[in-house]
Amino acid sequence: GSTLQAAAAESGRYFGTAIAANKLSDTAYTTIANREFNMVTAENEMKLDATEPNQNQFNFTNGDRIVSWARSNGKQVRGHTLAWHSQQPGWMQNMSGSALRSAMLNHVTQVATHYRGQIHSWDVVNEAFADGSSGARRDSNLQRTGNDWIEAAFRAARAADPNAKLCYNDYNTDNWSHAKTQAVYNMVRDFKSRGVPIDCVGFQAHFNSGNPVPSNYHTTLGNFAALGVDVQITELDIAGSGTSQAEQYRGIVQACLAVSRCTGISVWGVRDSDSWRSGDTPLLFDGNGNKKLAYNYTLDALNAG
Ligand code: G3I
Repeated sequence: GSTLQAAAAESGRYFGTAIAANKLSDTAYTTIANREFNMVTAENEMKLDATEPNQNQFNFTNGDRIVSWARSNGKQVRGHTLAWHSQQPGWMQNMSGSALRSAMLNHVTQVATHYRGQIHSWDVVNEAFADGSSGARRDSNLQRTGNDWIEAAFRAARAADPNAKLCYNDYNTDNWSHAKTQAVYNMVRDFKSRGVPIDCVGFQAHFNSGNPVPSNYHTTLGNFAALGVDVQITELDIAGSGTSQAEQYRGIVQACLAVSRCTGISVWGVRDSDSWRSGDTPLLFDGNGNKKLAYNYTLDALNAG
C-alpha cells in the first residue's frame, strides 16, 4: 500500500488519527487526513464537557461535524470518551454519590444513543487507574461513587448501542511489568469472567524519552488479547525526531502486527503542528504536511506485515 490506511488494510487492520472539528476547513489538513487514514477519533468534541455543557442539555454540534466528515469520506469513527475524571463539565465536577452516578449513567446513555450505529468502538471509560506502583484505581469523583462505576458504564453503553465495540482506554499501560498494566489486565480478566460487556482495550501510547516504547510491547498486547478482547493503539505519538523516532514507530507497528487481535493503530493528530504537544514533534507529518522519516518507517513496517 502507498498510504497508511492502504498498507494497514492489507492485513485487515485500520490506521487512524485524531481529528479536530475546527481544522476541517483547513484543506492541507483534510487532504492528508483523507488520504492516509480510515479511522477517526474526535480529539475533544465527544468528551463530557463538550457534549453535556449543562446537565441534561446535550450539544452534539462539533461531534456531529466530525462524524459527518468521516462518513462522507468513507471512514469509521472511534468514540472518545463517555466517562472520564477529566474534562468534566463544571456542573459534574462538584457532584458526588448517587447523584453523580445517575448523571454519569445518563450521560453514557444519551451520548451512546445519539451516536448509535455510527461508532466502530467507544472508549467507554478513560484513564481510571492510578500511575505509579500502587495498581490502584485513580481517585476521582467517579471512583468515589463505588468501585463498580466502570462496569456500570459499560453496561449502560451496551444497552444504548449494542453494535459498538466497547473499550477501556488508558496510558502508561504499555510495559507488561508495570503495576498499572497489571491492574488493568486484572480488571479486564474479571470483567470477562463475570460477563461484563467489554470488547477491547485501547493503549494510548504517548511516548517520550522518559517513557520509551517498551521492548515487551508485543507481550503486553498479546496477553490482553488472550483474555478475549481486541486491542488497539489509540493515541500514538512519540516525542523526538529522525532515526530514533522512526525506529520507535516501526517497533510499535511490528508489535501490533505480531498480535492478530491488534486490529488497528491511531495517531493523535495529523501534523506535528496539530499535536497537543507540538513542541515534541511527535507525529508522522511535519508542520508543512511533509512526510517525516517516521512516516516512511511506519509505512514500510505496515507493508512488511
Ligand atoms: O476550546 C478551548 C478554546 O475555546 C480556548 O480558547 C482554548 C484556550 O486554551 O482552549 C480550548 O480548549 C482546549 C482544548 O484542548 C481544545 O484545543 C483545552 O484548553 C485543552 O485542555 C484541550 O486539551 C486536550 C486535552 O486532551 C485535554 O485533556 C487536547 O487537545 C487533547 O489532545 C488531549 O487528548 C488527551 C485524550 O483525550 C486522552 N489521553 C491523553 C490525551 C493527551 O492529553
